[in-house]
Amino acid sequence: MNEFFIASKLYRDYSQKEGNQHIASEYNLYHILKYAKDKQVSKVLEIGTGIGTILSLFQEAKKVGFLDLKKYVGTEENSYCLQQIKLNCLPEKEAGFEQIIVEEGDEIQPDKFEFAIVDGKASNLETIVSEFLTENALILIEGYREDQVNRIKMELDKMRWPYAYFMRFSTWRNPDYGPFRQKFQAGHTIFFINPSQKEIELCKKLKTFARLRYNARKVFNFRNWVNK
Ligand SMILES: C[S@@+](CC[C@H](N)C(=O)[O-])C[C@H]1O[C@@H](n2cnc3c(N)ncnc32)[C@H](O)[C@@H]1O
Repeated sequence: MNEFFIASKLYRDYSQKEGNQHIASEYNLYHILKYAKDKQVSKVLEIGTGIGTILSLFQEAKKVGFLDLKKYVGTEENSYCLQQIKLNCLPEKEAGFEQIIVEEGDEIQPDKFEFAIVDGKASNLETIVSEFLTENALILIEGYREDQVNRIKMELDKMRWPYAYFMRFSTWRNPDYGPFRQKFQAGHTIFFINPSQKEIELCKKLKTFARLRYNARKVFNFRNWVNK
């Protein structure tokens, strides 16, 4: 099973669920899997678990042998969302990896995560960046959270950690069955800390072709171009 299949299945499932209005886009679910696979990620931190879309994405990826996740930590303070996570996601024993949900970022126990996904607020975002990430970690910020992108850049600059990043707008149209009515799916910003040559090249390539991608998406739905 490939990343498109897993992401699309999850997105379709979550599009039917109650409280679906804030779920991650299919484009972002697909890229989360791609980045996680490239890095062989085993420990993930998500700021803003919501109703559990991304936790379920990792559970499915583990179930089909696409990723070998060992630990997921999420933050969620909303009582409705906490209830929905219990209904929507597998319990830890069935998932086959450790799962911890805390209410606030400052309740995260010291650890080193390889992948941080930011889809909600965290007052201690700077501490998360400086203390809770491995030296080659990825940070993905969902949508266009400019303030959080700037806070992360400032913290990485302060620590003098080299990084490459790119605001990856989406070239995929929203499918009819999803909860979103905008023409294009939401994109993300991706940070590669201590980037490899391949990651530097990827960011350069995306920057070079940004205008072309932006114009081309008006004509082509690149969702149809992904190898299924
Ligand atoms: C964008 S959402 C997170 C979505 C999550 N990453 C997902 O893909 O399911 C960010 C925040 O919105 C809140 N939220 C998400 N879904 C909600 C809902 N249906 N009703 C109220 N708040 C919601 C949560 O408190 C969450 O921390």
